[in-house]
Amino acid sequence: MRIDIITVLPELLTSPLDHSIIKRAQQNKHVEIYIHNLRDYSNNKHRNVDDYPFGGEAGMVMMIEPIDKAITALKAERDYDEIIYTSPDGIKYNQKEANKLAILENIIILCGHYKGIDHRIREHLITKEISIGDYVLTGGELAAAVIADSVIRLIPGVISDETSALTDSFQDNLLAPPVYTRPSEYKGWKVPDVLLSGNFKEIDKWKENQSDERTRRLRPDLLDEE
Ligand code: ADE
Repeated sequence: MRIDIITVLPELLTSPLDHSIIKRAQQNKHVEIYIHNLRDYSNNKHRNVDDYPFGGEAGMVMMIEPIDKAITALKAERDYDEIIYTSPDGIKYNQKEANKLAILENIIILCGHYKGIDHRIREHLITKEISIGDYVLTGGELAAAVIADSVIRLIPGVISDETSALTDSFQDNLLAPPVYTRPSEYKGWKVPDVLLSGNFKEIDKWKENQSDERTRRLRPDLLDEE
């Protein structure tokens, strides 16, 4: 998979995507991530990429030309399955969306900023708009990092234990059961006996019951999703 991210703040994305599992995924060629500075596509010497809005609202708007140039340059090199714009008014991101993106070959993520982007970009160039939740960030970079991270860990081979991503919370619309490690007792706080029993049939049953109970109690809305 290849992910191209277009942003005015490349530094905000380099570090989050350069550690641990996501770093190794790149080293092992499971994913290629390219971060493009939108200012490189500016049409003036000040490297501006924003301008005042028509109609006189407060705040600046990202201009169409640098974004079109950046996307056109990428599209000239390869086909893209999705050109994503991160925005609070996009579809709400969840594990199902992550699963859908994880099977794609090439995606672009355009990070929004300021008051927004010239709407013609959304009408003519963007194929999917994603919000990571009902709150407003200062820019789309953190949203792009969230999307990239959640997608990359689903690519086969990225997480060493093959089944690990499949047993995450939200796969099957269920929360994961609690986990424990040594010591089995700490300050009198005990790990559930069944987990120490060695009876794997009972352990599996306990995990299923815990998933079910926790989902009903903490996220009953998940049980209504198809
Ligand atoms: N940009 C600003 N807020 C955002 C959000 N909630 N999701 C995605 N992109 C955003």
